[in-house]
Amino acid sequence: MIHLNLFIQSRGHHEASWRHPGASTLPLTDIRFYAECARLAEAAKFDSIFLADQLALGDDVARAPRTWLEPVTALAALSMATTHIGLIGTCSTTYTEPFNLARQFASLDHITGGRIGWNIVTSWLAAAARNFGDAAQVSHADRYERAEEFMAVVKGLWDSWADDAVLDDRAHGRYLRDGALRPPNHVGAQYQVAGPLNLPRGPQGRPVFVQAGSSETGRRFAARHAEAVFTAQMEKLTAQQFYKELKALAVAEGRDPSQVVILPGLSPVIGGTEAEAQRLARELDDLSDPEVGRKRLSGRFGGHDFSHLPMDKPLSPEDFPDPDTVQAARSRTEVIVGLVRREKPTLRQLLSYLAGARGHYVTAGTPEQIADLIADWCAEGAADGFNVMPPVLPASLEVFASQVIPLLQRRGLFRTEYTAETLRGHYGLARPAVV
Ligand SMILES: Cc1cc2nc3c(=O)[nH]c(=O)nc-3n(C[C@H](O)[C@H](O)[C@H](O)COP(=O)(O)O)c2cc1C
Repeated sequence: MIHLNLFIQSRGHHEASWRHPGASTLPLTDIRFYAECARLAEAAKFDSIFLADQLALGDDVARAPRTWLEPVTALAALSMATTHIGLIGTCSTTYTEPFNLARQFASLDHITGGRIGWNIVTSWLAAAARNFGDAAQVSHADRYERAEEFMAVVKGLWDSWADDAVLDDRAHGRYLRDGALRPPNHVGAQYQVAGPLNLPRGPQGRPVFVQAGSSETGRRFAARHAEAVFTAQMEKLTAQQFYKELKALAVAEGRDPSQVVILPGLSPVIGGTEAEAQRLARELDDLSDPEVGRKRLSGRFGGHDFSHLPMDKPLSPEDFPDPDTVQAARSRTEVIVGLVRREKPTLRQLLSYLAGARGHYVTAGTPEQIADLIADWCAEGAADGFNVMPPVLPASLEVFASQVIPLLQRRGLFRTEYTAETLRGHYGLARPAVV
């Protein structure tokens, strides 16, 4: 069985989606938009939905929508609009106190009846630092080092209550079982946290740990902690290499590789015929603004200035900073420079490709072709499923749900009913014991 997550972002993942007639007419601050997407995904039996987050306003907001609801708050609301689907929210290890995060996600796990996942990010966006008292961005290495200690603290907090701690014995006046609390008393380089947490363990024990770091450091972090991994891959071959390497790293960490579910991004433009799909893709491209794309590219490379590059001259890797020196989203810069090395696109062509889904796999085709691709990547060791990134929301999600999912179900590759109540259950993940 394959796994499918719906990534809800803006009015779709194509940069120009917000202007497309198939996009929702609701404001991006209206919870009904997110609820509509979540309900559509639940009706189609997706494993989960996912909300990303960044801790600063993008500097292209004048020409592109860069607003969304804070994920923890939004997921609490969406839990009441859904019954089965998993709900994954992003929260930063660099700019959050571990005690706050632990109680927010434990609360969400209780509120949702065990449907919550945490997308662990270290916050790559340079501008975020300035909103949290840091003049300069925390370096890539320091972010991951801090994240490592952060994980030890929050795991200690979620495990600080035994599963059977609460007696709630009204007759005898006993609320807690003796010895049921184990405060972590963490003292480390970054954090000093006594604990225990101030609420009982959630239905899943801990939220499902989701992670998307793909640099070498990011991969090692994922191998130690992640239970679901998002990744941006532009071709099957690199996806296979990533898949093999991450599963091997997980084994080297003493983990069962089936407990690390790998989900590359996929942004499918779907049409009744190939020509129709290509026409839809062109329609979106024509709505794109290259200057918005140029600013986003600059953000990916930590603010590097690309304004001098002509639009229609083939690019070379020398036009970009060395990814090893980038302190922002390092692995995505590797993906972009790799594409430039392979295909030598012009800046206009590169921006047009990145407008599709920011470096994730973008393809246009018929429902059969999309279902074939999904089945093929999963059969050939490139994926355990996909992080579905509809180009336009909700229109492309409706098409995916009504035309691609039934094909996968007919082939016996995707569930027709939920067989579990929790997100761990949907992804086939074990519930962690209190250690
Ligand atoms: C599907 C996906 C979703 C992501 N969501 C976020 C996010 O919400 N917030 C964020 O700061 N970073 C997000 N990232 C970025 C990753 O956390 C990570 O910083 C990035 O992939 C670069 O990896 P690296 O730091 O190991 O180089 C996301 C990445 C992917 C592939």
